[in-house]
Order: sequence, then structure tokens, then C-alpha cells
Amino acid sequence: MIGEFTVKRLAALRPRIQDIVDHFIDDMLSTDQRPVDLVQALSLPVPSLVICELLGAPYTDHDVFQGRTAVAVRRTSSPQERQRAFAELRAYLDELITRKESEPGDDLFGRQIARQRQEGTVDHAGLVSLAFLLLTAGHETTANMISLGVVGLLSHPEQLALVKADPGRTPMAVEELLRYFSITDTVSSRLATDDVKIAGVSIKAGEGVIVSGLSANWDPAVFENPAELDVERGVRHHLAFGFGPHQCLGQYLARMELQIVFDTLFRRIPTLRLAAPVQDLPFKTDAVIYGVHELPVTW
Ligand code: HEM
Repeated sequence: MIGEFTVKRLAALRPRIQDIVDHFIDDMLSTDQRPVDLVQALSLPVPSLVICELLGAPYTDHDVFQGRTAVAVRRTSSPQERQRAFAELRAYLDELITRKESEPGDDLFGRQIARQRQEGTVDHAGLVSLAFLLLTAGHETTANMISLGVVGLLSHPEQLALVKADPGRTPMAVEELLRYFSITDTVSSRLATDDVKIAGVSIKAGEGVIVSGLSANWDPAVFENPAELDVERGVRHHLAFGFGPHQCLGQYLARMELQIVFDTLFRRIPTLRLAAPVQDLPFKTDAVIYGVHELPVTW
């Protein structure tokens, strides 16, 4: 799959992602309603539509996967609710892959199906799992990062001014926002396959380890004044996308989406502001992936 997610391959998607972002901002601007909930108006639809187009899934089904993913990542969901959400999502994707197997198009799954037929490397169940992983990992994370990135910049006007003054700074601002919010804090969990000692701590083979990305990204020994949002920090070696062989497959796509959204949003709506005090926003302290449930904005 890595070949599908290279910087070069993804660069071809840039104009389409720009169109998608412009489309949802047009909709925002065409309404007289204020405040607007940015989560529903922009943060969630942009990555959902992008991942649907990439996978060749109909966007009209977005309620199916957005709703089920939200249940799956909510800490307060019961095991039964979570299991049902997973089962329904799997059933939906099973159907989608079955349809694609009978008519494979020239999209990501069409190419995987062709590969399966040629090399037999992935079977139907494998393709369903792949679709499951990409669809869930591909929209919820980026959506939360769009919302939090907007919160971060609007609540640090001097940082936003730097980005607005020179959009060349946006890529580094995106890296800093990824570091600062570390939305996937504890998703990297592993079992040690061997006895190992790290920084004086012994971990035995078979023991579970949950790595806190947030602690690493706020480590004062690595990042000076880590609690400060500094878009000019200029560091890319954060762990927001994990580390090692399971590092995020979609990181270049996520970076591109975030860069396009922030550039376009603040250029087209320069007077954008939060319509509620930051401390009153409903942050997702109840979810495995950090974010904000609603983000009222006005202009
Ligand atoms: C801001 C957005 C995103 C963040 C912060 C993020 C974060 C992460 C992290 C921390 C991991 C590593 C998990 C681990 O160590 O076990 C990961 C894995 C993964 N991500 Fe992302 N991700 C984002 C967007 C995306 C997108 C857009 C896609 C898909 C198009 C995607 C697909 C994946 C996949 C498939 C994996 C599993 C890779 C593997 O296990 O080999 N992610 N992501």
C-alpha cells in the first residue's frame, strides 16, 4: 500500500482536495446562519470526502462510517456498542468490496483487487480489513486535527498572524500543531517481543507497553518550552504519526489536507473567530483520539 501514499502520488490529488475544501467553504459563506459549527461544516466532510474518493466509496454513505467510527473511538461506549459499530462497519465494507470485486475500477481498491488476482497476496477478508483501517484512520484523525488546528491558531493570534503573513510557513505550522495537540496520544500500544531496558526501565518479553505520544512530544529535553505553540519552531521529528514500521501510512495525505484547509480557510475568511471562549469548547476528553465535538465559529 505504501506506493499509493507517497508524496509524489498524492501530489496529483492536490487540485481535487483544493476543490473539495473550496466547495465546503463556499457552502459556509453562502449561509446567513451564525455561528457555524466548523466540525460539521468543514473538519469532518473534507477528510471524509477525500478518503471516500481515494477508496472509491460513495460519499453519500458518510453517515454510515462517521457515526460508527465516532462510537468506536468514544471511551464511554460500552463494549457491546463498540462491537456493534465495528460489525456494522465491517458489513458495509464487505458489501462495498464485494461490489468492487465484480467491477474493479481504476481506484485504490480496484488496483488492490487486480493485484490479488495476479499475485494472490490479499484475499477478500484482507481487503475488507484494509478498507476498514483506511476509512476509520483516514477521516476521524484528520477531522480532529483540522478543528484543533483552527482552535490553536485562533486562540494564538500572533501565531496566526505569522502564518497569514507568509503561507510558506503553513507546513511548519502544521507540524507544530501536530506536535502540540498529539491527538493520538496513546494509540501506539505494543507487546515486547524480547526483554529490553529503556532509560533504566526493564520491560520483559510479553509485557504490554502503551507509548504516550503526548509525553514524547512535550518532552522538555527535546522541545524547548513544549507547552508553547510556536509555528516557527521548525521541528519535524515529533511522534504525532507514530514511529517505526507502523508509522502512519496516511501522513503525507493528512499533512496536505491540513495545509490546504488552513491556507484556504484563513485566506477566504480572514475575520474568522471563535464564537465561544476556548475554555467552554466541548473537548473530546471522552475519546481515544483527541479533538472537539463542536466548534462554533463566526466572521
Ligand atoms: C492528522 C491525521 C493523522 C494522525 C495524527 C495519524 C496518526 C497515526 C498514528 C500515531 C499511527 C501509528 C499507530 C501505531 O503506532 O500503532 C497511525 C497509523 C496509521 N494511519 Fe494515521 N494518522 C492520521 C491520518 C491518517 C490518514 C489520513 C490515513 C489514511 C489515509 C491514515 C492511515 C493510517 C494507517 C493505515 C495506519 C496503520 C499503519 C500500520 O499499522 O502499519 N492516517 N496514524
